[in-house]
Amino acid sequence: MKPKIFVTRRLPEPAMVKIAEVFQISVNPEDRILSKQEIIAGTKKCDILLCLLTDMIDSEIIDANPDLKGISNYAVGFNNIDIKAANERKIPVCNTPGVLTETTADMTWALIFAVARRIVESDNLNRAGKFKGWGPMFCLGSDVFGKTLGIIGAGRIGTAVAKRATGFNMKIIYSDRSSNKNIANFAEKVDISDLLEKSDFVTLHVPLNSETKHLIGEKELRWMKKTAFLINTSRGAIVDEKILVKALKENWIAGAGLDVYDKEPLMEKGLADCYNAVLTPHTASATIETRTKMGLIAAENAIDMIRGKVPKYIVNPEVLK
Ligand code: DGY
Repeated sequence: MKPKIFVTRRLPEPAMVKIAEVFQISVNPEDRILSKQEIIAGTKKCDILLCLLTDMIDSEIIDANPDLKGISNYAVGFNNIDIKAANERKIPVCNTPGVLTETTADMTWALIFAVARRIVESDNLNRAGKFKGWGPMFCLGSDVFGKTLGIIGAGRIGTAVAKRATGFNMKIIYSDRSSNKNIANFAEKVDISDLLEKSDFVTLHVPLNSETKHLIGEKELRWMKKTAFLINTSRGAIVDEKILVKALKENWIAGAGLDVYDKEPLMEKGLADCYNAVLTPHTASATIETRTKMGLIAAENAIDMIRGKVPKYIVNPEVLK
């Protein structure tokens, strides 16, 4: 008898094939987010739960199955899982870091250019037949090359974003709680207040936790230049979105490029009316290549956990001691 895995939403085929080599799979038959009750029902019958960042895995779900052997999250971020509850029950939790670094950095740059050069706004205007011919003051945006890029959070993704900036001859500054980061080879470390005051583009790359929730609020947005842009491909709740909408409407800053939202899939009231925001639907890692690699890692994590091996990408290794 194969061990059982519950997969809350179908993953790219190579990952499903790899999972099927080891597990008897029970998978959500529909391509939609499951309700909490549906996740509980699936968790009750499995050895391993393979879930997504859209599944809020709390103590009630974990307690639905006292024999649960592990949780494999199909994401690098794991703020959707109550790690304290998993730790108390000695349940290993794994994530999928590394493979989405470059893709997310690319998307961060796509947002920087889209918002600075008004790509979405001008494309819409063009399609609506409002392009009446080239004009000296028509659709003016902001330069990106030679400007100052401020990176908050100099982990893998922040560093990959910074590397790309060297090609645009930008001054790169960053803030991070720890030192000895690779980014220090080509960027200057500054305080977050300094970074917000000096940057033309501020990009967020910190994980969401109690310390980073609403890291960017009224004070921080007011510190930014009126000509600066805020980019967020990390987690929506890092920014106080109510204040951000006010900042965008009242032009405290020039614009924002956002891929993530506090209450996904909902957006903060008024955000969709902000002409100076580019709003993608949490697709920073959405390429065939990356989503497949994430699936293969999530599968490997699940296989390691069921075989009693220490998974390479465990986030709470202390539970195995
Ligand atoms: C993650 O893996 O945490 C990303 O947000 C997915 O896009």
